[in-house]
Amino acid sequence: PDHLPLVGRRAIITAGPTHEPIDPVRFLGNRSSGLQGYAIAGALSRLGANVTLISGPTSLEFPRGVNGARVETAEEMRSATLAALPADIVVCAAAVADWRVDHATNSKIKKQPGQSPPVLTLVPNPDILAEISAVGPERPRLVIGFAAETDDVEENAIAKRARKGCDWIVANDVSTGTNVMGGPQNRAILITEAGVERWPRMPKDELASRLAERIAEQFTDDAPI
Ligand code: C5P
Repeated sequence: PDHLPLVGRRAIITAGPTHEPIDPVRFLGNRSSGLQGYAIAGALSRLGANVTLISGPTSLEFPRGVNGARVETAEEMRSATLAALPADIVVCAAAVADWRVDHATNSKIKKQPGQSPPVLTLVPNPDILAEISAVGPERPRLVIGFAAETDDVEENAIAKRARKGCDWIVANDVSTGTNVMGGPQNRAILITEAGVERWPRMPKDELASRLAERIAEQFTDDAPI
């Protein structure tokens, strides 16, 4: 219905981990479940947005009404995300691997008795959030990144917002014991141009709804970012 605040707006969400191949059977990965990104995709869709979800490997089903693509690697996630532009809103919730193995092999690396283990050389992956934030005339009006930090969460998130060139950062404390990474709850600090908002701990789908509402506020006709 037309009274939903994000009708006519396009949103792209990246979510989940990436898997960076070592050989055909092994990869480098991380503990992201994709829950928070999927929840944000669903929440934006419920507010009327046309949502494209670019997902790394997860065990989750796409939320109702959400289209998109499943990818494996950071390079694939980057291509799929750029191909989905233009958009009004981009939320980079994926835990993109910072590095990939520079020469993944086409055959399985053999364990050779008596030989020393293989040495992996890593090279940096493209930074999708930074690239979208600097994309030029097609730059989405609102680009949102995440920051998973264990120490000095606020200071690091403020610095990350400046470094990446995005509009907002949603910062989480992922220290051991918080069970945020992979767990059902999250505690967020929202960093915007205007300052810092400390949100209480809440289920990830509730945080997603709240973030979607906060996003929608930016798209009432006269609201500045
Ligand atoms: O630099 P860091 O990985 O801490 O930044 C996290 C934020 O940047 C997240 O929003 C993540 O989705 C995004 N990111 C990205 N591409 C990368 C690394 C991070 O989009 N290669």
